[in-house]
Amino acid sequence: MNFTAMAHPLVFLLVLSIFPIASGTAASLSSPYCPTYDCGNGVQIRYPFWRLDNTTSTQFCGYRDFGLTCSDSGEPILSLPSDSYYVKNISYEEYTLTLVDIDILDQPCPRARHNLTINATLPLYYSSLDLNLTFYFNCTSTSSVLQHIQCLASYAMKSYVFIVGEETDNFDWLANCEEKVVATVMEEEISIANLSGEFGGAMKKGFILDWQSVRDCGECEAHDGLCGYNNAQGEGLCFCKDGSISRDNCKGMSSLPFIN
Ligand SMILES: *[C@@H]1O[C@H](CO)[C@@H](O)[C@H](O)[C@H]1NC(C)=O
Ligand SMILES: *[C@@H]1O[C@H](CO)[C@@H](O)[C@H](O)[C@H]1NC(C)=O
Ligand SMILES: *[C@@H]1O[C@H](CO)[C@@H](O)[C@H](O)[C@H]1NC(C)=O
Ligand SMILES: *[C@@H]1O[C@H](CO)[C@@H](O)[C@H](O)[C@H]1NC(C)=O
Ligand SMILES: *[C@@H]1O[C@H](CO)[C@@H](O)[C@H](O)[C@H]1NC(C)=O
Ligand SMILES: *[C@@H]1O[C@H](CO)[C@@H](O)[C@H](O)[C@H]1NC(C)=O
Repeated sequence: MNFTAMAHPLVFLLVLSIFPIASGTAASLSSPYCPTYDCGNGVQIRYPFWRLDNTTSTQFCGYRDFGLTCSDSGEPILSLPSDSYYVKNISYEEYTLTLVDIDILDQPCPRARHNLTINATLPLYYSSLDLNLTFYFNCTSTSSVLQHIQCLASYAMKSYVFIVGEETDNFDWLANCEEKVVATVMEEEISIANLSGEFGGAMKKGFILDWQSVRDCGECEAHDGLCGYNNAQGEGLCFCKDGSISRDNCKGMSSLPFIN
């Protein structure tokens, strides 16, 4: 087999079908349209995630909301409606993402600014490995028996953190505090005994979200295609395993393993 033959796309695909990259599911299929990328921190960006950069073409391969930019420091960034997050890990086996709020990373005493909000249209879900923390910032009057967050205290104002729902209920927190923010952390990183002293370390470790297959991509993936989008045309695409691009979810293709 000479090099020219190797470089032919059909031969490339034949080689892929003999040596499947992973389990042989659509999500593991590689294609020149769906390259793997690493911003620098070792996290592999591959289908259904993709590298979003401002030089790119009008079409991409991956889920629409899963485009990641790279920070100057080499971290992939996911932008959600509430905020932007560094992507610290993507598990393609467990369908999980580990995210860290960019705003708080360089703060010695993290002060969450935004509630994490996951738009219902996103294929992202809260993980059972997480825990929500409720913060009340700048409270004017409170009980003195409660431990406040020392590193956020200013003048007479104190701030507090609770496991969500565990606020003392004989006090009107919303009326007495300037702001309430709910932040998500990994349960295993939380020290219940010293929450107000150690919440910062947990926040910097981030939290986990589960991701799922997008319903609109189901038919494309069922035909071993990889789902994508054409921005210029405003329409979905399917990158078929024979190297063609289809608007028809690769329906003409057999879903059996490719045989030359
Ligand atoms: C992308 O856009 C950002 C800001 O809009 C700019 O700083 C950066 O240089 C651009 N990158 C490329 C590769 O053009
Ligand atoms: C990424 O997440 C997977 C699944 O939770 C885990 O097994 C793996 O150790 C994590 N990798 C890193 C570098 O945190
Ligand atoms: C955290 O809050 C979100 C939004 O309210 C909720 O959907 C999720 O179940 C909560 N997670 C835990 C572990 O309580
Ligand atoms: C509390 O209010 C002061 C004065 O407005 C402000 O400087 C400080 O950042 C606030 N603290 C928190 C934790 O929001
Ligand atoms: C966060 O959500 C709570 C409701 O859980 C709301 O009361 C609060 O105002 C929100 N905070 C911000 C900063 O949007
Ligand atoms: C709680 O954590 C803070 C910050 O790490 C530490 O300074 C403090 O001594 C801890 N308090 C207790 C009771 O362990």
